[in-house]
Amino acid sequence: MRLDKFIADSKGLTRSQAKIPIKDGLVSVNQKIVKQTKHQVDLNFDVVQLNGITVIYQEYRYYMMNKPKNVVSATSDVLEKTVIDLIAKVNQKGLFPVGRLDKDTTGLLFLTNDGMLGHKLLAPRKHVTKVYRALIAGEVTEEIVQTFASGITLKNGETTKPALLKILAINRQKNETKIEISIVEGKYHQIKRMFGAVSMRVQELKRVQMGGLKLDEGLKLGEYRELTPDELSCLIRNIN
Ligand code: URA
Repeated sequence: MRLDKFIADSKGLTRSQAKIPIKDGLVSVNQKIVKQTKHQVDLNFDVVQLNGITVIYQEYRYYMMNKPKNVVSATSDVLEKTVIDLIAKVNQKGLFPVGRLDKDTTGLLFLTNDGMLGHKLLAPRKHVTKVYRALIAGEVTEEIVQTFASGITLKNGETTKPALLKILAINRQKNETKIEISIVEGKYHQIKRMFGAVSMRVQELKRVQMGGLKLDEGLKLGEYRELTPDELSCLIRNIN
């Protein structure tokens, strides 16, 4: 593999960004400075260092973000700030959010440059479970829990698969209910539309889990981090 590709892939840089440290003499292969960007690296044997630090070859990158409100789940947008804008420039290349959260939804967003994995996670037949916590205006009743469990017909006539709805707390003074809901589909505005179908309104919505991947509650809104190897294997378990 060419040295500039090795650096670009591993560091999330474009090929032309990766050429700069190579030409500046900051990259060594087996302890020797190499300034030729097309130098061939043997992935099995060569040790590449950037600024004296060994670079482990990594084609794919996997991140979780605690998505804040007011950013859209897209790679680019002419008007709105996107989740990719919240990622450091050096990590951005090829990255896309797997699935969409509404602009006003917060919580777990998985981002990667691994198109195959992204595709599998979104494939409807994989039924990847998504878990959300929400604040609902009004009182959610056991009857609604049962309705959700048997699948709902949305206002446009579409039906949803059974969803597990749990009532976490009812605040009668404020007339609102905290709930947790697990769904296996990803229809547009699905949770808002499911509550809409029973004449209720979602006030706050946060995703906390996607398949085996749980939101790291230590991440502040807008922060992101790389997945640990364990988290990655939890995520890909069951979808192959
Ligand atoms: N359902 C919604 O209504 N909105 C989201 O962002 C995710 C699920």
